[in-house]
Amino acid sequence: MNIASKTLIVTGAGNGIGRELTLQLLALGARVAGLDINEEALAETRRLAGEQADGLSTHTVNIADKDAVIAVVDEIRQQHGQIDGIINNAGIIQPFIRVKNLDQATIERVMNINFYGPLNLIQATLPDLLERPQAHILNVSSMGGFFPVPGQVVYGASKAALKLLTEGLYAELVDTNVGVTVVFPGAIMTNITENSGVKRDGEDAANPPKGAPKGTMPADAARQMIEAIESNRPRVFIGKDSRFMDRFYRLAPVRATRFMQKQMQKFIKLD
Ligand SMILES: NC(=O)c1ccc[n+]([C@@H]2O[C@H](COP(=O)([O-])OP(=O)(O)OC[C@H]3O[C@@H](n4cnc5c(N)ncnc54)[C@H](O)[C@@H]3O)[C@@H](O)[C@H]2O)c1
Repeated sequence: MNIASKTLIVTGAGNGIGRELTLQLLALGARVAGLDINEEALAETRRLAGEQADGLSTHTVNIADKDAVIAVVDEIRQQHGQIDGIINNAGIIQPFIRVKNLDQATIERVMNINFYGPLNLIQATLPDLLERPQAHILNVSSMGGFFPVPGQVVYGASKAALKLLTEGLYAELVDTNVGVTVVFPGAIMTNITENSGVKRDGEDAANPPKGAPKGTMPADAARQMIEAIESNRPRVFIGKDSRFMDRFYRLAPVRATRFMQKQMQKFIKLD
C-alpha cells in the first residue's frame, strides 16, 4: 500500500515505537489517528510532529474497552472521512514474575490490552478497510510470542495469541484488498518497562544492565514496519535477536528454550 494520503490508526502513539510510527507516517504524507491511554504522552507526540501535526488527530482511549474503541473509530471516520490502515502497536509487558506468583488482575490486564485490544480495533474497522481500494492491518506481536521467556510467560501467551490471530486474518483476507502483517520485534530501546508499570529499582529498558545486548532503536523498528506495509509483507522479524531466535527455535526448540532461560538468569532475578 502506498502510504501518502492514506489515513492510518496507530495505537500506543504516545511513546516508543508508536510515536516513531506516527511521526514517520506523517512525514510520508499520511494522515494519522493516534490512540493512547496516556493523554500527556499523546500531546508530546503532537508537539514533536510540529508543522505536520495538521495531519494528526489524537484520541485518549483504553484499547481494552471495546465500546470506547467503537466510539473512537466513529470519531475518526467523521474527522478523516476514511480509514485505510490500522497499526495495533500498543502493548504492555508483565512484571518479571513466575506464573505461580501472578495474580488474576495482572493476567487479565495483559491479555485485555495485548490480545483483546487489537481484536477490538480490528472488528471496529474491518468493514471500513474492506471498502477501500487498498488497506492494511499490521499487528505488533513480539519475539516472545514465538518462543518462551521465563518471567514473561503470560505476556508471551498474549503475543502468541495475537500472532495466530494475525496469521488467521491473513488467511481469511488473502484474496481481498486488505494486506495483513505480523511483526516480531526483538528488544527495542523504549521505556516499555516503566510504561507498563513494572519497573523495578535499577532497571531501565532504554539503558539495559551492563553486558546485556543492546536492542534496535524505535525509529528503526518503525521504519521497518512501514516498509512492510508498503511492500505488503506478511511476516517481519525486527533485530538480529529476533531473526536468530526464529531460526534457532524452529531448528532446536528445546535447546533454544534452555538457551533463553540461561540468558534471562544472567540479567533478571525472578520473583
Ligand atoms: N520494547 C521492546 O523491547 C518490545 C519488544 C517486542 C515487542 N514489543 C511490542 O511493541 C509494542 C510497542 O512497544 P514499545 O516498546 O514502543 O512500548 P512503549 O511503552 O514505549 O509504548 C506503548 C504505548 O502504548 C500505550 N498503551 C498501553 N496500554 C494501553 C491501552 N490499554 N490503551 C491504549 N494505549 C495503551 C502506552 O501508554 C504507551 O504510550 C508493544 O506491543 C510491545 O509489546 C516491544
